[in-house]
Amino acid sequence: MSDDFFPVPEDWAKNALMDKAARAADYARSIDDADAYWLERAQRLDWITPPTRANESSFAEADFGVKWFADGVLNVSANCIDRHLATRGDQTAIIWEPDSPDAEPRRYSYAQVHEQVCRLANVLKAAGARKGDRITLYLPMIPEAAFALLACARIGAVHSVVFGGFSPEALAGRIIDCDSTLVVTADEGRRAGKTVPLKANVDAALKDCPSVKKVVVVQATGGTVAMTPGRDLWLHEEAANVLPDCPPEPMNAEDPLFILYTSGSTGKPKGVLHTTGGYLLWASLTHELCFDYRPGDIYWCAADIGWVTGHSYIVYGPLANGATTLIYEGVPNYPTPARIWEVVDRHQVQTIFTAPTALRALMKEGDEFVHSTSRKSLRLLGTVGEPINPEAWRWYHSIVGEGRCPIIDTWWQTETGAAMIAPTPGATDLKPGSATLPMPGVVPQIVDAEGHVLEGATEGNLVIAQSWPGQMRTVWGDHDRFFQTYFTTFPGKYTTGDGARRDADGYYWITGRVDDVINVSGHRMGTAEVESALVLHESVAEAAVVGFPHDIKGQGIYAYVTLNAHDEPSDELRKTLIKWVRSEIGPIATPDAIQFAPGLPKTRSGKIMRRILRKIAEGEVSAQALGDTSTLADPSVVDNLVANRQG
Ligand code: WT7
Repeated sequence: MSDDFFPVPEDWAKNALMDKAARAADYARSIDDADAYWLERAQRLDWITPPTRANESSFAEADFGVKWFADGVLNVSANCIDRHLATRGDQTAIIWEPDSPDAEPRRYSYAQVHEQVCRLANVLKAAGARKGDRITLYLPMIPEAAFALLACARIGAVHSVVFGGFSPEALAGRIIDCDSTLVVTADEGRRAGKTVPLKANVDAALKDCPSVKKVVVVQATGGTVAMTPGRDLWLHEEAANVLPDCPPEPMNAEDPLFILYTSGSTGKPKGVLHTTGGYLLWASLTHELCFDYRPGDIYWCAADIGWVTGHSYIVYGPLANGATTLIYEGVPNYPTPARIWEVVDRHQVQTIFTAPTALRALMKEGDEFVHSTSRKSLRLLGTVGEPINPEAWRWYHSIVGEGRCPIIDTWWQTETGAAMIAPTPGATDLKPGSATLPMPGVVPQIVDAEGHVLEGATEGNLVIAQSWPGQMRTVWGDHDRFFQTYFTTFPGKYTTGDGARRDADGYYWITGRVDDVINVSGHRMGTAEVESALVLHESVAEAAVVGFPHDIKGQGIYAYVTLNAHDEPSDELRKTLIKWVRSEIGPIATPDAIQFAPGLPKTRSGKIMRRILRKIAEGEVSAQALGDTSTLADPSVVDNLVANRQG
C-alpha cells in the first residue's frame, strides 16, 4: 500500500455489514459459483415467481444478448413499497426538503407513498396508459417525481425521465425517439429561488410530438400555465376521482422498466434500456453494500432524478431496501454554501452522496460554511459522476467528515445501472482518487489499443469481461447500435469508454473518457451533440467541440467555430451562439469558450484532428505538445488557432 491510504476505521471493521474477509469471500463466490450466488442474492427481492435461471448473457456476436433471471416474475413498485407495509408502513420513506429553507419539509410514510403511487398509477391508466407504453417524465425534484417512477413501474409502463434542465427541443427528441403516449410534468420547477417553466416547455415540445395523447400536470408552484382541453389533466383533480389502490402488474424479469437517454461519442443521445429484475437487484444490492445500509438510516443522494444516479440511488435502491430517502428540490449552495450541511443537520442524515463538482464549488467558498454546521449525524460520504481529485477527496474527508466518515467513491455509468467499482466501508482501505475494487460479479479488465489484456499494475482502456445483473439490455429501437457501440471495439467485452489505471494493490483509478464524450459537472455531453447544435445556426459553417480541464466543472466545453463567408466574428455573435446552444440543448451544454477559427486542422482525407484541438484548448501549444502536424491538409491553420486561443 502507498502511504497515501486510509485504512478501514476500527469501529467500521468491527460493526460493518461486511468486513475485509467477508467481501473477499463474497466476491470470489460471485465469480466462481456465479449462478448459485446470483440465485441466492435474488432472494433479497420479492418474486411472484422466483427465477430458476441467473445469467444467460453472451457478448459474442453469434448469440449476443444480455439476459438475467429470465423466468422470474415480479413488480418493482411492489418491491419498493408494498412489501414494506406490514413491517414499516408508518416509517418515513421519503423526506422532501424544499428549495427555500423557509418552506416546510414534507414527510411520506411507506403507507402514504403507497396511496400516492396507487392514485397516480390509476390516473395514468385512466389516461389510457397500458403495460409496455412509454411515459415521459419531465419533473422538478418534488416527491411526485419518485411517485411517477413507481407508478409507471406499478402498471408496467416504461418511464423515460428527461432532466428538467433540458430544452423543449431536447425533450421533443426524446419523446419522439421512444414514441411516448403520455407526459407527466409540473406547472413549474423551483431551483435556487428561480422558477423553471416546465409546462410551457412541454407545450413547446409537443408541437412536434403527435404520439402524445395526454399530459398529466402536477401543481408544484401554483404558477399560471396554459392547459389544453382534452389533452392536459391536473393530477390533483384526477387523483381525487380514482381508487387509492392499484394492483401491481406482474412483470417478467426481462420486461423493460425504463429508458434513460445518454450521450455517446456519435449521433443523437441513445435510449439506454434497463429491465425489471436484474436492475432492481443491482440497485438494491449495491446500495446496501456501498452504504452499509441499516434499517432506519436516513440517506440522502443529492443527485437529480433526471440522471441514472437519481433513479438508482434516490428511488429504486433505497426504497427496495426500506430506507428513508431524502429528496432535495434545490441546489447545494442556495441560499448559502452552508445549505447542504444545514440540510444534513435538519434531517439528521447519516449518508450523503454527491458529485465532485459540487464539492469543488463548496470548497472554494471556504471552510466557515462547513464549520457553522454540526454534521455529527454523518457516517458515510459518497461521491459519483467523475474522477474525484485528491484535494477534493481530502477536503470531504477531513473538513466535512472530520476524519470519521469513509469516502465511498462509486464508479459506474448510465449503462451499468448502478455502482461497479466502489468501496464497502467496513472492508476497503481507501486511497484518495481511487474508486477501489469491483462489486460482486464485476470483472474489470484493462486492455491496450489492440485489446490485449494487461496484467498487474498497468494503464489502458477499461472493459468489463462478463455480464452483471444491472447491465443495460439494448439501445431503445436500435439493438444493432447497442452491439456496435459497446461490443465491437474489443470483441467479447463491454467497452466502458473510460481509461483506467490499476495499481499494485489491484485498485482502479479512472482517468476519464477516452472517447468524444465530455464530463461537465458530472453530466455527460457528446461533443457531436454540441457540434450539431452549433451548425444549426445560420452563421456557422463548421464546428468542432472538445473538453478542457475546468477547476469546478471537471471539464469545460470548448468550441471551435468556422463562420460562413458573409459572417464576421464578434463578441456579440459569440454570446448569441452560447445562448443558441443553451436553447437547443439546455444550460448544461453551455460552451465555456468559443473560438472563431477560419480553418480547422484536417487530414487530407478531411478528418478533423481533435488531438490538436484538445491540446490547444488545454493551453498546451508547444510544438512538442502539438506533435506531428505535417499530415494536415493545411498545417498553417494551427498557427492561427494557437494565436487566437480563448481564455
Ligand atoms: C461516466 C458515466 C455514474 C452515474 C452518473 C454518471 C464518469 C462516473 C465516476 C467515478 C471517475 C466517473 C465516467 C463514466 N464517472 N463515476 N466515481 N470516478 N469517473 O453517469 O452520465 O452515464 O457518466 O462518468 O467517465 O464513464 P453517466
